[in-house]
Amino acid sequence: MKLKPRDTLVVASHNKGKVREIMELLAPFDLHVFSAGDIEIEEPEETEATFAGNAALKARWVADRCGHIAIADDSGLVVNALDGAPGIYSARWAGAEKDFFVAMARVERELKEKTATDLSAYFVSALALALPHEEPRIFQGEIHGHLEFPPRGGNGFGYDPIFVPNGETMTFGEMDPAKKLAMNHRTRAFERLIASDIFQP
Ligand code: IMP
Repeated sequence: MKLKPRDTLVVASHNKGKVREIMELLAPFDLHVFSAGDIEIEEPEETEATFAGNAALKARWVADRCGHIAIADDSGLVVNALDGAPGIYSARWAGAEKDFFVAMARVERELKEKTATDLSAYFVSALALALPHEEPRIFQGEIHGHLEFPPRGGNGFGYDPIFVPNGETMTFGEMDPAKKLAMNHRTRAFERLIASDIFQP
């Protein structure tokens, strides 16, 4: 699988924050990029047990339906003291209303219930690139840090207001979006994708 200038690439996500970040990462590559929402392809149910499995499922779903190369990200927050929760259920913890203040409050409550002192956590992003009817290729990135409560900052999305990356004092929610993008898990996965033979001659 190779990506060439002006190829069409569909971002297999309806999450506006994610689509924006992926489009910014793809901007330098002279590709024709649009999102699954733009072409009204609904989201599949995420039935796999891993980030990589769900990313592959989402990329394949869109590629098979629209006939273009698709890129999907499955990502989430892994909290060590919660045995890896919310993990692949990160989006689902926000409920049907997609209210991440509910999800962040649940993280805080579960940590309190366990009287956890280890607040270390990390974000994971598995990126899957799929050609129609082919096995997707997967690239994974992580960023490690810790959680702070109450949530701070109105930038970003999801769990950004409680996550402080190692070496920083601001949450991702307080940080300038360009600075977050330069260091985050999705960018790290993306760096692996562009270093791969898919982008290399
Ligand atoms: P999914 O990959 O669509 O299943 O959703 C993953 C969920 O993880 C998102 O809805 C966010 O809540 C959370 N998440 C993933 N990446 C980030 C991030 O960069 N910041 C904050 N939350 C994130």
